[in-house]
Amino acid sequence: MSCRLANIGDLPTLLIIEQSAFPPGRWASEKSLRERLELPAQATWLAFYENQPVGFANGFPIKDLSTQQELDPDDSSLFSQESKFWLLRNVAVRPEFQGKGIGKQLIQAQLNSAKEYGSKYFRFTASENLTSYYSNLGFRMIRPPEAFHGLPQSVWESEL
Ligand SMILES: CC(C)(COP(=O)(O)OP(=O)(O)OC[C@H]1O[C@@H](n2cnc3c(N)ncnc32)[C@H](O)[C@@H]1OP(=O)(O)O)[C@@H](O)C(=O)NCCC(=O)NCCS
Repeated sequence: MSCRLANIGDLPTLLIIEQSAFPPGRWASEKSLRERLELPAQATWLAFYENQPVGFANGFPIKDLSTQQELDPDDSSLFSQESKFWLLRNVAVRPEFQGKGIGKQLIQAQLNSAKEYGSKYFRFTASENLTSYYSNLGFRMIRPPEAFHGLPQSVWESEL
């Protein structure tokens, strides 16, 4: 497996991966993915397995937001260039390539990007089925799942 930073030309590939990994209704839109790729500071890592693009993870620095409601907007309005917080906004691996360590490597690449940027905290939201996945990777739940429109999500953090 290998990884490289994605650019705007990769947008169609990211959309295919996004739509294969999430059920309809939970997809980030093309507009939202485009806006994230165009932020002045962000990292979108694209993973390849046997030369095929199979997964990606997107992240960027955000304001100090720590509730599901605050973190909900599916666009780049959370962005803050000066902040200490890095948001892992999205990680997606095509179903037929899951369980091969690709997600773990994409998250590690995001942690490295956040550190390089100078962020101090790494945050993300997760649905309940991923609680053991993220705790096994060493992350800490800082807010339990909240009832909010859409799927209840917990908030996770790691100090960088
Ligand atoms: C969540 C997701 C990104 C994980 O990617 P992946 O490539 O399948 O995960 P990995 O292979 O890196 O798994 C790493 C470890 O977690 C374990 N694991 C994988 N999925 C798990 C799950 N749902 N629950 C608990 N553990 C899990 C693996 O067995 C592996 O353990 P190991 O290191 O002891 O071998 C992927 O399943 C996915 O795209 N899901 C759909 C989209 C989604 O929900 N994204 C996250 C929210 S934004």
